[in-house]
Amino acid sequence: SQVAIKDALSGRIEAGTTVTIKGWVRTRRDSKAGLSFVNVSDGSCFDPIQVVAPAELANYDSEVRHLTSGCSVSATGTLVPSQGKGQAFELQAAAIEVLGWVDDPETYPIQPKPHSMEFLREVAHLRVRTNTFGAVTRIRHCIAQAIHRFFSERGFYWVNTPIITTSDAEGAGQMFRVSTLDLANLPRDEKGRIDFREDFFGREAFLTVSGQLNVEAYCLAMSKVYTFGPTFRAENSNTTRHLAEFWMVEPEIAFADLDDDANLAEAFLKYIFKAVLDERGDDMAFFADKIEKTAIRRLESFIASPFERIDYTDAVDILAKAPRKFDFPVAWGADLQTEHERYLTEEHVGRPVVVTNYPEHIKSFYMRLNEDGRTVAAMDVLAPGIGEIIGGSQREERLDVLDARMKQFGLDASHYEWYRDLRRYGTVPHAGFGLGFERLVVYICGLGNIRDAIPYPRAPGSAEF
Ligand code: 4AD
Ligand code: MG
Repeated sequence: SQVAIKDALSGRIEAGTTVTIKGWVRTRRDSKAGLSFVNVSDGSCFDPIQVVAPAELANYDSEVRHLTSGCSVSATGTLVPSQGKGQAFELQAAAIEVLGWVDDPETYPIQPKPHSMEFLREVAHLRVRTNTFGAVTRIRHCIAQAIHRFFSERGFYWVNTPIITTSDAEGAGQMFRVSTLDLANLPRDEKGRIDFREDFFGREAFLTVSGQLNVEAYCLAMSKVYTFGPTFRAENSNTTRHLAEFWMVEPEIAFADLDDDANLAEAFLKYIFKAVLDERGDDMAFFADKIEKTAIRRLESFIASPFERIDYTDAVDILAKAPRKFDFPVAWGADLQTEHERYLTEEHVGRPVVVTNYPEHIKSFYMRLNEDGRTVAAMDVLAPGIGEIIGGSQREERLDVLDARMKQFGLDASHYEWYRDLRRYGTVPHAGFGLGFERLVVYICGLGNIRDAIPYPRAPGSAEF
């Protein structure tokens, strides 16, 4: 019977059982003794299985000895304890069927040797056949499952928020337009504006930058909710930390303040890290060995560390007194740069840090204005080794204050009427946060570039595949 390679290697199938495995050849080695060892992977686990192909196979000379990296095969034989190191079982093949040849083995991009990450980005459709991207793919899956499990166990409902929207959830003007109009050839008014009433949705529409506003509406009926889906930002930042299309997890809790929000973020991250260590030991061992030697240790230490809370104003003092120079100046009122965030979490406390109560003018319009009138109930969770990983806040639940904030940020209240309704009909204190899914994958796997944390990265000038 056909089995996944992870099951064949698990030790749960009795030695001597006849099984069929199907997958893609990683390597082939021919021994002088007249047999070949073919390593086959099917993605189900980190390790390939070693298929031992004896010269007696009917197609041994005609086919088996011509197998190259990337060929697809079906192999049937008996599982036997392996003599080799590092693997408990191998398959003694009685038959190997070649399902698909590699047309031109010389030019097949995924040779059994180390490749640079830059090169692999150019073959995004094939890079998943490498150890690294197979492992990233399994870890992404594991994290996503853990996210749903965490929330479900705590009584949260998953809400699907729209991808096409007319409101700018962050008010930051970084949205991609969705239009069916021939924008280049449309008449414009004296200010150069286009009349979008003729467009598909009857008004200007965009890809969402965040599901938060929509999920807030559901929170104010369902109490505990989260959204988890793709989000889009047209920020022209060609960095190792930004994608134009990324996934975001956004929980929202009612009858809750910033403190509850920070507690939720802490429990959430620890749950995810524990799930990855428990379930993906094989892949994490690979990352620790080949990509980032602290990969496992730092997750263990993160799980064991209580988060430190630092008020933004205190953080600015700490940075001003830091015994080292920063590239960006530190002053009350300026946003913290990555170098500042990393100093706080890595050097100052050596644990994850939650920075709270930022100046109101550097944060979003929906964040709750504090009593001091100068700060908002915002938080950023900073992790050693990466900096900001989560951003969140208590929301402004008072209509008059919200209106004043929207005005201050130059937002057109008529685009947010439904959002204002939430403050008019049974408003309550509520809070939430957003976690960049790929930032988390980068951190867990120890990757150097966020473009390697998503199967098909979208960034300025790059949307191939
Ligand atoms: O801090 P941000 O902009 O917050 C929000 O969007 C809120 N609506 C969240 C909420 O309170 N519900 O983004 C949240 C997180 C960041 O901390 C970061 O991890 C990630 O999203 N992020 C990005 N990840 C990849 N590429 C980008 N361009 C990102 N921009 C933000
Ligand atoms: Mg942020």
